[in-house]
Amino acid sequence: MSHLEAGPQDAPAVVLLHAFPLSAAMWQPQLDALSDRWRVVAPELSFPEPSVDSAADEVARLLDELGLDRVVIGGLSMGGYVTMAFWRRHRERVQAIVLADTRASADTDEVRERRTRQQEQVAGGDTSAVIEAMVDGLPGPHTKEHRPEVMAEIARLMGDATAEGITVALEAMKRRPDSTADLATMDVPALVVVGDEDALSPLDVAQAMSEALPRARLARIPQAGHLSSLEDPQVFNAELRAFLESVA
Ligand code: MLT
Repeated sequence: MSHLEAGPQDAPAVVLLHAFPLSAAMWQPQLDALSDRWRVVAPELSFPEPSVDSAADEVARLLDELGLDRVVIGGLSMGGYVTMAFWRRHRERVQAIVLADTRASADTDEVRERRTRQQEQVAGGDTSAVIEAMVDGLPGPHTKEHRPEVMAEIARLMGDATAEGITVALEAMKRRPDSTADLATMDVPALVVVGDEDALSPLDVAQAMSEALPRARLARIPQAGHLSSLEDPQVFNAELRAFLESVA
């Protein structure tokens, strides 16, 4: 598993897991902003099997390679699904948790059917229709209207996604279990982040998650949609920094 990282090797580590169909590079604003005090590690998620568990185990293996025992770990959307799997399988390594624009519930039948259609769309190797729909569907209205540079960056990042990568990630998400009951067991400090304009994992979902977590704080990012860390990195980073300082 490859990764991006920034910050001093001996600083406390924070591991950030990316969304779909994005890559570790989506965390560049956090790598830049937080590496003054933290070792920020952004793994390139890989799925040896079509399951979030297999991706979580790969992250654990990467942490072994990097000599990181206990870390703050978090993810945005799909990265959050993998974070919850990481908790189930490697909780002794979790110092604190960040769940951004994500949900604990499994896919509904309707969502699974949509993912199957997306898999069919990329089966011939052409990813453009799926990527165009994601570029259009994930950011909030404010970003679409007022942040052309962010929209260009989202399109650029998603443009790197391959048909194989899209297919296996969709399958892993379709098969992921419901993590709702796990939330009550996450007895570490937790930060739940949500873009106020997130249409995929909206505010009520984030609120319910933060109420189910024993030690959570909810941070809302105004004028941001599902990709809050990219849409308003300044506000997102301020929330993340305050949380990291509180658990240091
Ligand atoms: C993501 O942002 O990671 C995906 O949109 C999540 C999903 O499709 O459930």
